[in-house]
Amino acid sequence: MVKAVEWVNGKVRLLDQSKLPHEVSFIDCEDFVMVADAIRSLKIRGAPAIGIASAMGLALAAQQTEVKGVDELKGRLEEVARVFLSTRPTAVNIQWAMQRMLRVVEDGKDLSVDDLKQRLIEEAKAILEEDIEVNRAIGIWGASFIRDGDTVLTHCNAGSLATGGYGTATAPILVAKEQGKNVRVIATETRPVLQGARLTTWELMQAGVDVTLITDNSAGAVMRRGLVDLCIVGTDRTVLNGDVANKIGTYTLAVLARENGIPFYVAAPLSSIDPTIESGELIPIEERPAEEVTTIRGVRIAPEGVKVLNMAFDVTPARYITAIITEKGAFRPRDIRKLFLEGLNISEVRL
Ligand code: MRU
Repeated sequence: MVKAVEWVNGKVRLLDQSKLPHEVSFIDCEDFVMVADAIRSLKIRGAPAIGIASAMGLALAAQQTEVKGVDELKGRLEEVARVFLSTRPTAVNIQWAMQRMLRVVEDGKDLSVDDLKQRLIEEAKAILEEDIEVNRAIGIWGASFIRDGDTVLTHCNAGSLATGGYGTATAPILVAKEQGKNVRVIATETRPVLQGARLTTWELMQAGVDVTLITDNSAGAVMRRGLVDLCIVGTDRTVLNGDVANKIGTYTLAVLARENGIPFYVAAPLSSIDPTIESGELIPIEERPAEEVTTIRGVRIAPEGVKVLNMAFDVTPARYITAIITEKGAFRPRDIRKLFLEGLNISEVRL
């Protein structure tokens, strides 16, 4: 399995996803600015992966900061965290990762600057390792919803490339396959950046999964023909009332799934759940450059000067979601608040 993000020889190594599937090449980020630019330009993308990359970027910035004391280091790293937070506003994972890294500085006030710098590297590496474990757990819970012979529709890329490894939405598929179930996947191409066509198909084919690519606009017809048994997607931010922000087009798929009586699951590590936001309308939605829509690989396909609205994400209301699959189990969307605010009595609310 190729790694989307790794700490190698004191640098942050990223797989350049903008070149996939044609070319497998890596970028060794020499400083945090390179990491932030790679996140902004989607060389690395996917909510958990950009959380991990920004944590490693912050650790890298710490190594390169000449400071006299811990307070000065903290001030500098808070500035760096603000840069990462400005790169992509919808995925809550960057916020989560920055808070976790800055807590290391806060808790390590009695350490020497050098020891603290080392602690930050260890924390960033731990975030990566834990993410892989979390995805594996999501896979085990999620596989119970996949029957032998099922076809799963997924959107965008919530696979190993979008995470530390294993993926969130893809983990139940991989575990089901390991369990000996015959499972097929339908991947939507996911305009305009084509994460489904370029990335999901590529990584699932490498994993030996039977995957069929469809255009985004054929999803309704494919469901109506009875070709989809369940949908599993990822999330960039899930909030207290169970609303889910994910790649643009997710809402359309969820409504179509309801219309066709197909269960719709969201694979959500707890790091993608934002307990500070009540409802989906309050989630910031990233708008990206018009060129993503008006051009394909540099070739213009729309008239010069046309107005474009390029929302990268949408919000699926909780009522369309069958269950949210986390590393702690699967839950009804309405139970997310109970989990976070009314004390985590997981076994009571687990499906
Ligand atoms: O714009 P992207 O490619 O970062 O969008 C990715 C998605 O929407 C994923 O579904 C989401 O981040 C979950 S990844 C496990």
